[in-house]
Amino acid sequence: MNLYPIIKTLLFQLDAEKAHHLTLKALNRSAPLLPYLSKIIGTPGKSKTVKPLSLMGLEFANPVGLAAGLDKNAEAVDALAALGFGFIETGTVTPKPQPGNPLPRLFRIPGDQALINRMGFNNMGADVAASRLSKRKTNIPVGANIGKNKDTPNELAHKDYEFCFRVMHDTADYFVVNVSSPNTGGLRALQEAESLRKILSGVQEINHGKAKQKPILLKIAPELNEHELRDVVSLCIETKLDGILATNTTTDRNLESISVSDIEKLGNGGLSGAPLKQKSLQTLIHLEQIIAEQDARNKLCLISSGGIMSASDALERKRRGAAMVQLYTGFVYHGPKLIADILSCWYSNPTD
Ligand code: FNR
Repeated sequence: MNLYPIIKTLLFQLDAEKAHHLTLKALNRSAPLLPYLSKIIGTPGKSKTVKPLSLMGLEFANPVGLAAGLDKNAEAVDALAALGFGFIETGTVTPKPQPGNPLPRLFRIPGDQALINRMGFNNMGADVAASRLSKRKTNIPVGANIGKNKDTPNELAHKDYEFCFRVMHDTADYFVVNVSSPNTGGLRALQEAESLRKILSGVQEINHGKAKQKPILLKIAPELNEHELRDVVSLCIETKLDGILATNTTTDRNLESISVSDIEKLGNGGLSGAPLKQKSLQTLIHLEQIIAEQDARNKLCLISSGGIMSASDALERKRRGAAMVQLYTGFVYHGPKLIADILSCWYSNPTD
């Protein structure tokens, strides 16, 4: 029996952000029990069919990861690992702690299986996340998604990314440079080639000076056109990045279950979940083509995020060249069973 639908009904009675904090706290407290509760919470359990993957020099327990934003401050990493994820991405963290945007800033749209958020990188800062990561027990890869503080001008943004990278280098297993959140004014402009080159080469220079290098990926928005995607791929190859994570949330509002005036009332923010599916998939398809044309399939690992709400969505990403997938909104709507569902068919897929 899967209890998640009941848990979800209760959580969905609460304000979305309150439910989020409550869930993280509850998960943290129950972490030691979670491995024994797999049948009632729908976690994958220990299946012999689940195979680890070696990618970017890391051993991933399975190809289904938790996307950034759910555990920004690395407070429940061990509990989330016990739910069956193959890897976890913490963050986005910034150099200084910051409160994010005013509340309310997170909204559910159940009729569209979607969320809208304008959190604005609320987080406790890179030092706190690094210290928590150093105490984790799980041995699955845990990444650090890094960003810039709201009050840092774009001309100095590279310094923020470098700061976070330095602080978290020893404790995070991989890094994601996030220039694609729609909720920090001007952040997406950093996807433009010259700004991006400065950030990626700066972080990579620090990396190459370390005894042990960590994989670095770039997380992009679903709004990039083909020309911009080409620039991004060339730059990732030039700066010897390990991969691209596509995509972050969209600024589109293609919602069907609520009226235009209700959509307007929700205000700005990034839309995630089912309405993002096609745009993320298209970005992945274009990226894969460009990477193939540039003969860089062995150089860049593709991770797909955005609108993965079912096992068939995940398999389609695999068919289109994703080595791994990440969940956020699908996990909120379907719980740990979604991880189990994806894993039950990922390995039997003919493209495997
Ligand atoms: C996010 N996402 C996100 N991404 C990121 O790189 N840094 C972040 O801090 C956050 N924060 C965040 C908060 C909330 C409430 C949501 C819903 C999402 C984006 C997330 O990692 C993911 O890329 C997108 O949500 C698309 O995937 P889903 O949700 O459609 O599976």
